[in-house]
Amino acid sequence: MVITFANQKGGVGKTTLCMLFANYLVKRGINVLVVDIDLQKSIVSQRKSDRAAFNDQEEEYNVEGVDIDTQEEANVLMEKCKALDGVVLIDAPGTVADNTLLPVFVNSDYVICPYQYERKCLESTGVFVQLIEALKKKVSQMKLEVFFVPNHIDAKVGTKEEKELWQSTDDVFRRFGYVTERIPYKASIMRSNTFVLDKRQEADVMPCFDQIINVTHII
Ligand SMILES: Nc1ncnc2c1ncn2[C@@H]1O[C@H](COP(=O)(O)OP(=O)(O)OP(=O)(O)O)[C@@H](O)[C@H]1O
Ligand SMILES: [Mg+2]
Repeated sequence: MVITFANQKGGVGKTTLCMLFANYLVKRGINVLVVDIDLQKSIVSQRKSDRAAFNDQEEEYNVEGVDIDTQEEANVLMEKCKALDGVVLIDAPGTVADNTLLPVFVNSDYVICPYQYERKCLESTGVFVQLIEALKKKVSQMKLEVFFVPNHIDAKVGTKEEKELWQSTDDVFRRFGYVTERIPYKASIMRSNTFVLDKRQEADVMPCFDQIINVTHII
């Protein structure tokens, strides 16, 4: 199974949720490979610094950095990923504006799309939804499903009107995929790494990740 973390917007939590989900799955005995296709190689460099921090701990999954410059390279990567057992998690870059990454979406089973309740982010997420919908129209065998994950949520912020607006945003996204439980804005989540999931992180992501696991039948 191939799951890609993507949105048209940068800084929404793609990399963070990808690492947390990897840790969450390996803790449940799932075979995981993380493929970092973002030019920034955030997860690759996180793994490097984690190796020093968690010096004698075993690496429970591999992190592979891959540069994708052409659609051909994207196709080759996806063929490899699809042939693997277990779950492949792909961390995509903060923009998917050019067509290079289209094969990644065409060949993924699911996309996890984090977003925030903030005008610019909602606009960009809308653009991303349009891209996926257009692709689905063009490529009939595509079976991609999208999980929209509200991330960075501070329960103390937001007027009654704003909260109603958020709810109606979710209703719109629900027409194009699953809208999961929200992930709170927490210092523990900022400390995510490529080795372990601590108790606090696990409690914060569990409602959302369990939903994803149930729908995808990963376990
Ligand atoms: N739920 C959260 N609570 C607190 N901080 C968070 C949360 N989610 C993400 N962050 C923080 O927000 C910042 C951006 O997150 P991240 O790098 O995962 O986003 P991204 O979508 O991968 O960005 P890019 O588009 O640059 O790749 C990071 O500093 C991360 O620690
Ligand atoms: Mg990232």
